Amino acid sequence: MEGKEQSTGRLHFVGKKDELIAAKRSFRTLEGRDILIVYHQGILYALDSYCYHAGGELQTGDIEEFDGKLCIVCPKHKYKISLAKGECLYKAADPSEKPPVPRWYSKGVKQRTHGVTETNGDVYVTLSLETKWIESDFYQGEKGKLERAKTEKAEKAEKAEKAEKADKAASSE
Ligand code: FES
Repeated sequence: MEGKEQSTGRLHFVGKKDELIAAKRSFRTLEGRDILIVYHQGILYALDSYCYHAGGELQTGDIEEFDGKLCIVCPKHKYKISLAKGECLYKAADPSEKPPVPRWYSKGVKQRTHGVTETNGDVYVTLSLETKWIESDFYQGEKGKLERAKTEKAEKAEKAEKAEKADKAASSE
């Protein structure tokens, strides 16, 4: 299946616990899958590295708690993804309620999360054995990789154009 080869269920050594704690965020490629390992408040988590929404790199996302769940906030469009389960959380209010009270809701599991185990200071990740398609699978496949590369190129061009305009505006002052 595009973007989701069945996991072998093997344990992959990903580093010493101390190193992963010091790094806080670590990127690894396991069985061709790009994984982010996050250390936060005493726990190590592993999840797909690219945001299911549009392939944003979660590695630089802030971690915050929403509705009692620790989430990584995608730097691109600020989607909130729970570290433990990969659920996407959002806040909304029902306009028919008087007055409307904003509440947290879950869009369900959108980001694939993986198992983390530790033995004598050695940390291992087992890729998720869930066989059902999870939306973040897309950005792990060939099509998703091409799409990410295309977006990156467009964003670079846009930045360069903005910088050029700013330069021109500065020099004409
Ligand atoms: S790419 Fe992550 S929120 Fe859009």
